[in-house]
Amino acid sequence: MTTLEEAGTVVSADGLMTALVCERYGTPDVLKFVEIPRPTPKNNEILIRVLASTITSGDLRVRSMDMPEGFRTLGRLALGWHVPRNATLGATFAGVVQSVGNRAAGFTPGNEVFGIRGFRMGGHAEYLCMSAKGAIAHKPEHLSFEGAAALSFGGGTALFFLTRAGLVAGETILVNGASGNVGMAAVQLACVMGGQVTGIGSAAHLDQVRSLGAVRVINYALEDFTALEQRYDVVFDVACNQSVERCLKVLNPGGRLIRLQAGLPEMCRAMLQPRRAGRHIIVGTAEERADQLGHLAELVRQGRYRPVIARVFPFEEAIEAHRYADRPGHGGSVVLKMSPIG
Ligand SMILES: NC(=O)c1ccc[n+]([C@@H]2O[C@H](COP(=O)([O-])OP(=O)(O)OC[C@H]3O[C@@H](n4cnc5c(N)ncnc54)[C@H](OP(=O)(O)O)[C@@H]3O)[C@@H](O)[C@H]2O)c1
Repeated sequence: MTTLEEAGTVVSADGLMTALVCERYGTPDVLKFVEIPRPTPKNNEILIRVLASTITSGDLRVRSMDMPEGFRTLGRLALGWHVPRNATLGATFAGVVQSVGNRAAGFTPGNEVFGIRGFRMGGHAEYLCMSAKGAIAHKPEHLSFEGAAALSFGGGTALFFLTRAGLVAGETILVNGASGNVGMAAVQLACVMGGQVTGIGSAAHLDQVRSLGAVRVINYALEDFTALEQRYDVVFDVACNQSVERCLKVLNPGGRLIRLQAGLPEMCRAMLQPRRAGRHIIVGTAEERADQLGHLAELVRQGRYRPVIARVFPFEEAIEAHRYADRPGHGGSVVLKMSPIG
């Protein structure tokens, strides 16, 4: 275990911390570094010194208020009309427990942890408070803080939806969007579950997708999977660049279609649609759960799963990191590394 001093967790005397805040919705130019009061943990919370976070597709959606069809008004109502209510973005974090509330069980100061806060955000700051019962887990000992920060978003999302789809050993699965954050996690986790994986991605990352366990890869620029003969038991559709109808056609009877970017009309259709030959559509938002993070950490310890990092940026370059994350083709997680406060 790292001591607080080794992890650089020297508390600033003035009780302030640096945070990257989103002043309105838009391009990375809406982001700004500010000094804000360091949070104080409630009885059931723990205070964490953040040492790494990531810029997820969720962060990009909130920053730019880019919501799936039918969710734009709902998104503003939920997240803030003109400016994000939770102005400090950062869905994920990894760091060291600084202090614990007197009713927060399971963690002690100095514990190395990682977790996910979803739309509550807050990871792009030097400290955050988290309920001890929230989506937080102990970091695998040999994994870096950057790796741990990259574990929860793609891994948690993929695990949630693969579990909902009930993938079983021997089934075939197609991951459309396998060269991205969630896709690379889905390929690995489907292999762990015994699935026979085909991954669709961009040419630059196909070798990597294969190295993660895909038995077959497809370059989306060259082939349209809905026009091929191959059928699958599960289609994990991250990219959602084809219609539901076309995707359903590539399913075997009893097959499941996971649609990660379903808009409101598609969600309603999924709920109302009668199962055709037992095929069904899975939509919704991934739940953030501590047990899933614990499972991912255990797979990392066993060497059966690894978070894929596209690039690590120092926290001071977070605005440039947002520009990088905005561009397609980066593959894996874009990580922010906080330097120790000294
Ligand atoms: N429902 C939920 O709970 C949930 C949770 C997490 C994420 N999401 C959503 O899922 C989406 C993906 O998230 P992510 O973090 O994995 O993003 P990402 O890292 O940007 O990955 C997107 C992937 O899709 C690929 N892609 C782009 N066009 C494609 C095409 N025509 N055919 C096949 N693949 C294509 C990209 O390829 P290249 O970049 O290599 O060209 C990239 O690999 C986002 O829209 C996010 O909002 C939903």
